[in-house]
Amino acid sequence: MERRALGEGRRAMEGPEIRTALPGPKAREYLEWSRQFEPRSMSEQVPLVWARARGCIIEDVDGNRFLDFTSGVLVTNVGHCHPEYVAAVKEQAERLYNCYDFVTPQRAALAKKLVELTPPHLTKAFILTTGSEAVEAAIKMARRFTGRYEIIAFHGAFHGRTYMAMSVGGKAGVKRGFGPLVPGVLHAPFCYCYRCPFGREVSTCNLFCLDYLDYLLETESTGSVAAVITETYQGAAGSIVP
Ligand SMILES: Cc1ncc(COP(=O)(O)O)c(C=O)c1O
Repeated sequence: MERRALGEGRRAMEGPEIRTALPGPKAREYLEWSRQFEPRSMSEQVPLVWARARGCIIEDVDGNRFLDFTSGVLVTNVGHCHPEYVAAVKEQAERLYNCYDFVTPQRAALAKKLVELTPPHLTKAFILTTGSEAVEAAIKMARRFTGRYEIIAFHGAFHGRTYMAMSVGGKAGVKRGFGPLVPGVLHAPFCYCYRCPFGREVSTCNLFCLDYLDYLLETESTGSVAAVITETYQGAAGSIVP
């Protein structure tokens, strides 16, 4: 496919504009259907019913336009409906829509490209659909490869909503009502200097949180650590950069 610069050929969508009381009349109807016919977890966002989006602008079913600060939870990095992306999806859907897990040229080429782009010790790419799935797969691989089972994880972490992903998470709300969770997880406080869980100051703490990890291993581990899982910075806990 001919490559185009990002944004080139993108049909402009005007900036934010609120035309009705919010939520508008059509939105209220769909929100009611959602409340009635979908699980409660599917209508807990702000009451906005998306009709279409382009670049960083969302239009709702009543014609109100908003600036998108969600960015598809960080995955619509080229903006909504970029023409090059839309053309690629369309072309693929017309050629081959589903092939279970058989190899395709596109998937093999993507894996090759990802391995070439990442540091040399990362020699494989396992392409999955969701974050939770990736967390499940990573932990399964770590356990089978090492023959051990303990996973070190951090308070405040969010890794997804499937059982293992929830179990390594460090936020109580996500887990409430679902216990007991998957065993073998050792949780430690995250390195959060602004609000140190140990009440220390960064200028004098001498990285006490790392010493605490040693203490955790001494007191909780049976010597069977398979992996450590952490976000590079904690998102759901409040964008905490260690
Ligand atoms: C750091 C992190 N890991 C895992 C997940 C779970 O991803 P998914 O919702 O695609 O299962 C999320 C989702 O927001 C996340 O922020």
